[in-house]
Amino acid sequence: MAGVSLFIDGEEAMLAFGARLAALTEGRGTLYLHGDLGAGKTTLSRGLIRALGHVGAVKSPTFTLVEPYEIGPLKVFHFDLYRLADPEELEYMGIRDYFEDDALCLIEWPQRGAGVLPKADLDITIAAQAGGRSLCLQPYGARGEAWCAALAKD
Ligand SMILES: Nc1ncnc2c1ncn2[C@@H]1O[C@H](COP(=O)(O)OP(=O)(O)O)[C@@H](O)[C@H]1O
Ligand SMILES: [Mg+2]
Repeated sequence: MAGVSLFIDGEEAMLAFGARLAALTEGRGTLYLHGDLGAGKTTLSRGLIRALGHVGAVKSPTFTLVEPYEIGPLKVFHFDLYRLADPEELEYMGIRDYFEDDALCLIEWPQRGAGVLPKADLDITIAAQAGGRSLCLQPYGARGEAWCAALAKD
């Protein structure tokens, strides 16, 4: 399936788009977040995690590599792999335990974990454009395609 392209104008709209993804994913799946520093990967993650029901801060896990959230029955793992030197470090972290079928994984800088990370259901690439952000969404597999089909109708 062809991907979906969107223009998101401003931080509030980015948080709202995260909330839209929260509703679509229902807290399950793997999302890759591509984009330069400051693109808005953490902002999107924050909107998503809060919309799933997390109350409180959603900090960038730049130094911890991963921030886990338990939101009622939902398990969310928010990764920022910017500082990962070698994908093998993820093995030492026991990362496989995180990729259970009933968890949601949001992964910033997924290219740093290539070969060790599970495949994405949805690949999101964010770039600055005219004061806002362009988003390119590429689905992989039935789950991601269902989300994109819904987004294309919005
Ligand atoms: N759609 C948007 N339009 C304009 N500014 C945005 C948008 N989304 C996020 N921002 C701003 O861009 C910055 C992105 O920071 P952050 O989310 O930490 O980026 P990243 O995690 O990609 O490094 C924040 O200052 C945020 O307010
Ligand atoms: Mg970030």
